[in-house]
Amino acid sequence: MLRRSFVAVAATVAVLAATTTLAQAREKLTLYCSPQIEWCNLMVEAFEKETGIKVAMTRKSSGETFAQIKAESRNPKGDIWWGGTGDPHLQAAEEGLTQAYDSPMRSELQDWAISQSNSANGKTIGIYAGALGFGYNTEILEKNNLPVPKCWKDLIKPVYKGHVQMANPNSSGTAYTTLATIVQLFGEEGGFDFMKALHKNINTYTKSGSAPIKAAGRGENTIGIVFLHDVVTQTVSGFPIVAVAPCEGTGYEVGSMSIIKGARNLESAKKFYDFALGKAIQERAKEAKAYQVMSNKAAVPPKEAPKLEDIKLIDYDFKKYGSSAERKRLLAKWDDEVKSLPR
Ligand code: G6P
Repeated sequence: MLRRSFVAVAATVAVLAATTTLAQAREKLTLYCSPQIEWCNLMVEAFEKETGIKVAMTRKSSGETFAQIKAESRNPKGDIWWGGTGDPHLQAAEEGLTQAYDSPMRSELQDWAISQSNSANGKTIGIYAGALGFGYNTEILEKNNLPVPKCWKDLIKPVYKGHVQMANPNSSGTAYTTLATIVQLFGEEGGFDFMKALHKNINTYTKSGSAPIKAAGRGENTIGIVFLHDVVTQTVSGFPIVAVAPCEGTGYEVGSMSIIKGARNLESAKKFYDFALGKAIQERAKEAKAYQVMSNKAAVPPKEAPKLEDIKLIDYDFKKYGSSAERKRLLAKWDDEVKSLPR
């Protein structure tokens, strides 16, 4: 009798153990990632190692990811969207594509990260910040006898024709930040006049935001309009690239994270969310040569990171430029009035 019940208990334990292993094996996460691929890969490896949750990750630019989440909204495939500029995250929140989460990590974050969250009723949160600007290849500049550009308005001088590259603001959050920054600096009319004049100097509109400065690093482009931390990545990699914080002042991003509405792996998404806001993982960004300012107050910034307090920053209106109506309007206007012009 005793032996029979022992066998029964042993069998139950074995079944339970097998079920737990199966459940663990089934835990997974579909991550949409918008910063540079090296950083996305680091996040995936570190999270899998810490939790055992299997991550399927796709890297796409901020505007592209927004469009994908919107297209999939009736049948969501992604669980969490990590990184990329804050404006399309705000738009996603407004359009009901993402869901609120009250993370226990909130108390560890910088004010700007929390204010991003508050303006979207908790549907997004700040994970990093970085200022916009441009960078140039010193060797190509010299070879072409070009003056050193210091201001936004320098970039529209005819002397730089064919020497400037930026991304397309529809696909790239970096380029949308550029468009919104220029409009905030020079006004609607002045801003669009600037974008039209700049268009004449642009050699290519890339899909991804950091591509223009990577091209400059490879010697295939002269000046790239990008975030300053992306310029630093090229400089520390040994390329002859110099960063410029434009003289008129400049905009900035609050790189954000949002849980997708209808996420199939909601518990895994919450675990990733809490993990991504931790000091330890944020301090590891520099291993991927990512030099943004991190949102966890305790995270020590790498010495290479551009210091936001030394840069003349505008009071970027995230509420307005992250709103669905304004982002749609500006992008449509840029397509109609700028992109379609001959070069
Ligand atoms: C780079 C920057 C990030 C930024 C991202 C936006 O990866 O380092 O700070 O958020 O670009 O990418 P996108 O391709 O949308 O401009």
